[in-house]
Amino acid sequence: MIAATEFARRRRQLMRTVGEGSLVVVPGAHTLLRNGDVEFPFRQHSDFYYLTGFSEPDALLVLAPGRKDGEAILFCRQKDPKKEMWDGPMAGLKGAVDDFGMDDAFPMADLDDILPNLMEGYERLFYPLGRETAFDQRVMEWIGTSRQRKGARPPEEFVSLDHHLHDMRLYKSAAEMRSMRRSARIASQAHLAAIRACAPGVNEYQLRAELLRVFHQHNTCESYAPIVGGGSNACVLHYIRCQAELQDGDLVLIDAGAEYDHYASDITRTFPVNGRFTPEQRAIYEVVLEAQEAAIEAAQVGNSWLAPHDAAVRVITRGLIKLKLISGRLNTAIRRRAYERFFMHKTGHWLGMDVHDVGDYEVHGEPRELEAGMAFTIEPGVYIDGKRDIPKAFRNIGIRIEDSLVLRKRGPEVLSADVPKKVDELEALMA
Ligand code: GLY
Ligand code: MN
Ligand code: MN
Repeated sequence: MIAATEFARRRRQLMRTVGEGSLVVVPGAHTLLRNGDVEFPFRQHSDFYYLTGFSEPDALLVLAPGRKDGEAILFCRQKDPKKEMWDGPMAGLKGAVDDFGMDDAFPMADLDDILPNLMEGYERLFYPLGRETAFDQRVMEWIGTSRQRKGARPPEEFVSLDHHLHDMRLYKSAAEMRSMRRSARIASQAHLAAIRACAPGVNEYQLRAELLRVFHQHNTCESYAPIVGGGSNACVLHYIRCQAELQDGDLVLIDAGAEYDHYASDITRTFPVNGRFTPEQRAIYEVVLEAQEAAIEAAQVGNSWLAPHDAAVRVITRGLIKLKLISGRLNTAIRRRAYERFFMHKTGHWLGMDVHDVGDYEVHGEPRELEAGMAFTIEPGVYIDGKRDIPKAFRNIGIRIEDSLVLRKRGPEVLSADVPKKVDELEALMA
C-alpha cells in the first residue's frame, strides 16, 4: 500500500513542478448509474487517487502553493449519519485532514462559493482541461464569479494538468512497484487456475469465472474486462463476449489482469484447449514466443520505447517468411509492413494505475527513451485470418503472449513470470 507520506510527497512535487503562481485543481470521479437505482462499483479517478489516496466520490483537490492557511485542500462530502447508515462511514472534513494529510478541508457543497476566492492572486490555473466539457464550463463559471469582484485578480492562463502529472505517474516509486508486483502475482495465479480448468467442452465464460474467482479471493477485481477467446475468437483483439464452447484442437487466448491497490496488471497466455499443440499451432507459437523474448531483451534503459516493437516485428516477419505466410526478403517485407496483416498492434503500452497508463510516448517528436522506473507490457501477437490464401491448418490461429514489466537500472523485471509460456511447460501444466 502507498503511505500517506508518499501522497503528500507527490503533491509537493507537483506544486514544485507547476511553480509559484499556479493553482492546481483536480476533480475526483463521479458515481455512475448502471440501471434503475443500481450504481456501478465506484472506482476513483487515477489522477485524483495518485495525489490523495482518497477513494470517496464527490471530491476535489486544490493545490494552492504558498497559501498561508494550507496548500493542500480537499473538498469532500460532509459526514452524514443518515447516509452513513446506508452506505457506511465517510471520512468527512476532519478525516480529510487527520487521515489523509490534507492541510484544510471544505464541504463539496460549498465549492462554487469558495473556489473563486481560492483562485485570487494566482496567474495560472492547472486542471484536466478538455477531459469533461461540464467541468471546463464550471471552471469558466468560477473565473466569471471571481472577475465580478472589485480589484479581482483571477488566473488569466489555463493549462492542461496532464503533461506534468502524467509524467510523474510514468515513473514508478518503490512502493508502486510493490503494488504492481502483487497485482501481477494475483493475476498470474488467476491465469494458472484458468489454464488448469481448461478442457474441450468447457465454455469461455467458465474460464473467465476462474479468473474472477481468484481475483475476488484476493480481494481485488479485474483491471479490464477479461478476454477469453477460443479458436477464431482469439483473432478478435478485444473479444469480451466469452460465450463459446472451447473446441478440441483449438487454441484459447486469455488476456486478463488484476487491479490491486489501484494498480493494474495485464497478462496474456495462449494454450491448446486439449493440452497439446498441433504442429502448425506450435510453429506459430514458437515465433510469437521468440518475438516476445527478443522484445523483452530490447527493453533496456537508454533504448527507444520502440526498440521492443522493432525486435518483435523482425522476429515475427522472419518466422512468417519461413512458414511461407509472408513472401519476399526480410528487410523488404519489414519495410512494406507485410507483417501488419497478422500483427496489427504495437508490442506494448505503459502500465500503472490505468492498464493503458498515462505518459507521453514521444518527446519532441521522437520516440521516448526507456528509463528506470517505467512500467509497461510486452505483448506481440500473430492473428491469422481464415482467407483462402492461407493453408488450412494455419487458418484462424490467434496467439498473443503478454507480460507486465517494470524497468530497473540493470534491466527489465518481468512481474508475470509465474505463468509458464514455453510450449513444454504449458503442456506439462495441462497434462
Ligand atoms: N488487455 C488490453 C491490452 O492488452 O492492451
Ligand atoms: Mn492485455
Ligand atoms: Mn496490454
